[in-house]
Amino acid sequence: MARSLCQITDFTSDEVKEVFDLCRRMKTKEIAPKPLEGKSAACIFTKASLRTRISFEVGISELGGNALYVTDNEIKLGQRESVADAARVLSRYVGLIMIRTFKQSDVEELAKHASVPIVNGLTDLVHPCQIMGDYFTMTEHLEKKERYTVAYLGDGNNITNSWLNLASLIPIDFRVATDAGTPPDKTLLEKAKSNADSAVMITDDPKEAVAGADVLYTDVWASMGQKHLAEEKEEKLRRFQLNKVLLERADPKAIAMHCLPAERGKEITDEVMDGPQSVVFDQAENRLHIQKAIMAYLLK
Ligand code: CP
Ligand code: NVA
Repeated sequence: MARSLCQITDFTSDEVKEVFDLCRRMKTKEIAPKPLEGKSAACIFTKASLRTRISFEVGISELGGNALYVTDNEIKLGQRESVADAARVLSRYVGLIMIRTFKQSDVEELAKHASVPIVNGLTDLVHPCQIMGDYFTMTEHLEKKERYTVAYLGDGNNITNSWLNLASLIPIDFRVATDAGTPPDKTLLEKAKSNADSAVMITDDPKEAVAGADVLYTDVWASMGQKHLAEEKEEKLRRFQLNKVLLERADPKAIAMHCLPAERGKEITDEVMDGPQSVVFDQAENRLHIQKAIMAYLLK
């Protein structure tokens, strides 16, 4: 079994810091490792993607490898054959497998049976590459601090859960403002709360969450696979919109973040997304750098 990234907590807190350091050194071109030289890497997608697909394909090529884009139409993971057998077969061809799918258990099953690293490119439960990239982006934009205050506004989803994962490893004052009917994962919440160096809070009052925060973060109200719930979620989450009124309650140097794609005018206003405090496109760029660092780290 190789080292894999099924969720951020597959790393220790020291390892997460090592990956951030590697990311910085690779982004500035201080080093340019080519751990995939002469190899291919499979990118399996069961859900749509812009950033993840392109940043992984470019990243794999920059690590010296050849990226293979595969949709679930071809492999029908767990249907044509077991996830375990697919993992064993793929490991004979490629040096690394990135997968975006619905069930976290499929990613974990792949990792259990593959002899090459598996990287989670988003499941219903978590989106580890996104939040590691986002934390890296924060550190580029904010003054150095022992513990940043991150206020997440909206649906308790894979993005929220990944923040909780990170808060269980490194000190973060993480506040979730959401409706009682759209909470994040309970187990990951409890785990994050058990890290005495972090402060994790859930509230249904967006003003309480954003007060003095360094980061205001939001994501779509209805994630992929849940679009049929869009109206219901919008009803519940409208009051958590990331807008200028809330941004003015954060720290004056606060940054506004969104993993994208955004539904402008819903969870975030144009004014915030296109405003001077927005770092959303830097976040998108850093997906490339952090994923290269993650792959290089897992392959070392
Ligand atoms: N943020 C993100 O993962 O974007 P895609 O869904 O376009 O890959
Ligand atoms: N929560 C969103 C994130 C997209 C990058 C989704 O799962 O659709």
